[in-house]
Amino acid sequence: MVTNKIAAGFSKLTKEEKLKLVSRNVRKPEEFIMEMKSFWHKEKQKIFDDISENTISNYWLPFGIAPNFLINNNIYHVPMVIEESSVVAAASGSAKFWFSRGGFNSRVISTKKTGKVHFIWEGKFNNLIRYMDKLKPAFREKTRHITRNMEKRGGGITDFEFVDMTHEIDNYYQLNVSFETVDSMGANFINSCLEEIALVLRDFFCSCQDFELPERNCSIIMAILSNYTPDCLVESWVECEIGQFNKMDKNLTAHDFIWKFENAVQIANADPSRGATHNKGIFNGIDAVAIATGNDFRAIEANGHTYACMNGKYKSLTEFKFDKDIFRYSLKIPLVMGTVGGLTSLHPLARRSLELLGNPDARKLMQIAASVGLANNFSAVKSLVTKGIQFGHMKMHLLNILNYHQVSENERQTAIEHFKTHKISFNSVSEYINRLRS
Ligand code: MEV
Repeated sequence: MVTNKIAAGFSKLTKEEKLKLVSRNVRKPEEFIMEMKSFWHKEKQKIFDDISENTISNYWLPFGIAPNFLINNNIYHVPMVIEESSVVAAASGSAKFWFSRGGFNSRVISTKKTGKVHFIWEGKFNNLIRYMDKLKPAFREKTRHITRNMEKRGGGITDFEFVDMTHEIDNYYQLNVSFETVDSMGANFINSCLEEIALVLRDFFCSCQDFELPERNCSIIMAILSNYTPDCLVESWVECEIGQFNKMDKNLTAHDFIWKFENAVQIANADPSRGATHNKGIFNGIDAVAIATGNDFRAIEANGHTYACMNGKYKSLTEFKFDKDIFRYSLKIPLVMGTVGGLTSLHPLARRSLELLGNPDARKLMQIAASVGLANNFSAVKSLVTKGIQFGHMKMHLLNILNYHQVSENERQTAIEHFKTHKISFNSVSEYINRLRS
């Protein structure tokens, strides 16, 4: 039910009051309130209430494990939080396949993050860059109170650069600031620094005696980090010799399999509509690790998809190579992940996830997440070019369909047995359950 009543002062209400107010919009308010409350946490509700705003309950998602990921010769049982069935199974299957074939290799290529002050200034770019040497110490001085702790941990501001954007918008310039944020994702750190730096810039233009009007006017439009970090990059890859694919599918030789696999990757490069789905399969794995470890999966997605079209066309994030009978499959992706600060230390299960991974630093977590992303994509492409995706997916989805029909334990077991040899679809399962019941 929708309502046409405004809920004035909603944020000031208690949680109980909020629940009561919104429950007026549903058919059975008491039942609604009871169900919502049944998901409140007995001891730790305050933590969840403080993470976001206007909370009325908690939204549970399954927390699964993809075991036995061999990454750079270490074994990880990787925590994954995701709502989609068969993603954890796909990651686990891939981990198992590659375990006996050398596992996943991974390396962090770079860890630079950036943010920008966007401003409008009626002057010449050459005049602007002349002042960088004068401005830099002021930028550093005014951000000292923020950067001090980060510097102790080995990070801080690493560079400043003016960028001429007047070819895009009249009088539009950027101050591009680079950061190293070590083990934190660093969003708050970067944004706080940028806002201080923007003030220094604005004041400098107003007071600089070298400038006349209109050069004295600088309009700061905004100061914000960039979620596109092409220089915060990780690469994971797997490789093995062709004979390893002999038994991949009973209808395909190893060469046929590799030929189809290569074509699948080329198609993802040729056609963005397939590229998007191909890359979505990568994010199935990466997002699930990001959520489990309290990382910002929206930032991760924005970053990856922007990188996927950096050359003007949306492409696959993975790369296929086949040389001298060696299959090599790799994923190169910008990934910003943190293992300290933010939700990683607030959410009790994010802390537990990191503990399960041996409390990795941010670089290690980047390597783990990228490897899981590659694993999920490998599984997906492998299924697509052999049995098709629905075979495995619907097997996993069967339990969801059975739950939808609120089956008894007896019905569940009978149906699972039946669908070992029958095609699963929502309709076929529904019809089967109806038949069982009648
Ligand atoms: C489903 O969540 C992901 C896939 O569609 C990925 C792909 O098609 O490569 C299976």
